[in-house]
Amino acid sequence: LFVFAGLAALAGCGNPGAGSKGNSGTLAFANRLRVPPLLEPAVAKDGTKRFSLTMQTGQAELLPGKPTTTWGFNGAYLGPTIRAIRGDRVAMRVRNQLGEPSTVHWHGMRLPAVMDGGPHQMIEPGGTWSPHWIIDQPAATSWYHPHPHGNTAKHVYRGLAGLFLVDDPAAAALGLPSTYGVDDVPLILQDKVLDKNGVLREDPKPTWGLMGDQILVNGVYDPFFEVTTTLVRLRILNGSNARMYNVEFADRRRFHVIGTDAGLLAAPVTVDRVQLSPGERLEVLVEFAPRDQVVLRSVAGDNGIDEGDYELLKFVAADQLKPGPSVPQRLAASPRIETPAGARERKFKLSGSDAINGREMDMTRIDEVVPAGASEIWQVQNPVYSHNFHIHEVAFRILDIDGKEPPAYLQGPKDTVFIPRKSTVRLAVQFGHHTDPKTPYMYHCHILRHEDEGMMGQFVIVEPGTEASVSRTLPSHH
Ligand code: C2O
Ligand code: CU
Ligand code: CU
Repeated sequence: LFVFAGLAALAGCGNPGAGSKGNSGTLAFANRLRVPPLLEPAVAKDGTKRFSLTMQTGQAELLPGKPTTTWGFNGAYLGPTIRAIRGDRVAMRVRNQLGEPSTVHWHGMRLPAVMDGGPHQMIEPGGTWSPHWIIDQPAATSWYHPHPHGNTAKHVYRGLAGLFLVDDPAAAALGLPSTYGVDDVPLILQDKVLDKNGVLREDPKPTWGLMGDQILVNGVYDPFFEVTTTLVRLRILNGSNARMYNVEFADRRRFHVIGTDAGLLAAPVTVDRVQLSPGERLEVLVEFAPRDQVVLRSVAGDNGIDEGDYELLKFVAADQLKPGPSVPQRLAASPRIETPAGARERKFKLSGSDAINGREMDMTRIDEVVPAGASEIWQVQNPVYSHNFHIHEVAFRILDIDGKEPPAYLQGPKDTVFIPRKSTVRLAVQFGHHTDPKTPYMYHCHILRHEDEGMMGQFVIVEPGTEASVSRTLPSHH
């Protein structure tokens, strides 16, 4: 176990003070926001939507006029947006042209473990991986990114990430803004260190790993977005390795959270600031007036991973705006996640920055065996540094944080939760029905350095009643 005792003082220094770091007031908002293109599927005779992704290296202009060597899907940086409807059969063809092994994990997707793209589904250099499944989950903003054990931080930081939007008829009937790139706009937030020549620096910070002071939105530095409608839906993804964002508008206007990681809230929640730790998504609705000019920013917090004030993006509204829909009163039709009386409770303690319950990730060890369809309470205790916690395959609801109800905007279905240092969260976790006693799903801290160092565990979903007979060890493939 790597011991961080010597770094306690560093990690404990906490909030450097608003304004002492960051880019406040220095951006010109000179670059038009790019929106990742939608990936057009080829539709097979049986209706299967076939999507092709190639992991490749390239040169992206992250800083104006300065090419940066980056990685991306079907391009130099980030990846196209995949979109599918509940009930669709999807088939992916993922080619690896990186020159080193990787994987592609569908973060937020509820699918069989062999299709999940975790560290057991490696794609060798030059190889192809072809998972397929039926989309069976509510409308949500999910994403995809590599997950090779020990190398996830590097692969994501270099640019491998994309969005995976799920639509469903119930959500479509709500009449939310839905013109992609116009009034339904993804914002992928990432922080980088780019030197003056545009070279992406990969020097990890103590405790947290890769944290930068240049914020990219959809791979664009210093961006603006032209608003043309009175109501805009933003799908915000924190695609950073470690940085957390406390997102607000500079004029402190209020906005409406409509969705969390795994789907819509029961009703919109009006807020003036939201927090996103790595891997988390939020969908929000924002009202604009003609000629509005307002900056979206992240303000410093005291969690260690949210130091500094950063301007993210400027919204520039046109002289005349097309009238959008009004904010709906009610949203999701799906019932909220509950656990039955006497639900099984499992306890996890995040140890230092590289282990859970005192053990580092072991690819050959099954840590938990869960019966298919179970609803369980997972308690995650965090004694030292800030962390978060992501569970593959599931949707969960935050029951409480240190015994207190979470903020209303975080009460929707989720798959990733921030866990402030010295606190404990309890989650009501709804597991799916895809059983496979030999292929595990992951749970881990989504601060990617922590995940890479071993703050990750493995669970299998099995036929109810067979838990006791499941082997707790897996053959090692390497
Ligand atoms: Cu987004 Cu296991 O990860
Ligand atoms: Cu995941
Ligand atoms: Cu962590």
